[in-house]
Amino acid sequence: MNLHKFSHLASVYDETRPVPEELLLFFRNEVINYLRTNCAEKKRYSLLSIGIGTGRAELSLWSKNVELYGIDINKEMLKVAKQRNRSVYTCVANALEIPFSHSFDLVSMIHTIQFVKPITKFYTQLKSVSKNVCIGDLYTSLYDNIIVSYYVNELEKNNYFTPSNSLDKVEKELEKWGNQVIKNKEIRAKIKLEKIYKIIKSQSLSRFWNVPLEIHVKVMQSLDYFIKKEKIELYEEVTTPAKAILRFIDLN
Ligand SMILES: C[S@@+](CC[C@H](N)C(=O)[O-])C[C@H]1O[C@@H](n2cnc3c(N)ncnc32)[C@H](O)[C@@H]1O
Repeated sequence: MNLHKFSHLASVYDETRPVPEELLLFFRNEVINYLRTNCAEKKRYSLLSIGIGTGRAELSLWSKNVELYGIDINKEMLKVAKQRNRSVYTCVANALEIPFSHSFDLVSMIHTIQFVKPITKFYTQLKSVSKNVCIGDLYTSLYDNIIVSYYVNELEKNNYFTPSNSLDKVEKELEKWGNQVIKNKEIRAKIKLEKIYKIIKSQSLSRFWNVPLEIHVKVMQSLDYFIKKEKIELYEEVTTPAKAILRFIDLN
């Protein structure tokens, strides 16, 4: 996976990966509840976000009661987070070499662990900075609609398979890490097909980054033809699942 692509995406990252406000609130409330239940009572909790990116998800955790630190390997993504909230301590760093020696009340890692390898080395690093971690994902599904289904099918017809980039791949490993509490929420979100079309066309989703340009162009032509033939109105909104999946782990 070419992580440098995040540099080109930083300015459009949040609009190409929307998260409904309701899910951000759920994330925030669950993290606060976990801190209150599992850490000694404090005026201010300290929280480290690994792979904070633009802060799309994790900036919602910052408050006067939560001191937020964020690291990311990509400085462009981090720059956006810092511009949004100057009170967050940010630092360019690799999850495999966490540059802190003190302990945080909680580490949060949203839609990032699947990029960090080897996961066993990461586990050792993680344990040195916290006893608690929240690993998860917050997203509006861009895959449950006619346009992306058609695009993926056409890729397959061209012998190109796009592996899913979800958390499922590391779930088995995470289950070994300690006692867990899983919190999920699913709602329905609305999104315009036009927006999905633009996201596909610009190859913004990491699952499609590696599709060779000639295949992408060919499949887009086929998609354009399909849209015309089926009289699909791109300005229409579709309803799609939006999910928060949070796995709180007490590291043993
Ligand atoms: C998909 S984005 C998620 C960003 C943010 N957590 C969110 O939910 O919007 C993944 C982020 O992880 C960062 N990342 C990937 N591998 C990393 C590593 N080894 N160490 C630190 N950050 C990493 C990327 O640069 C990117 O900003």
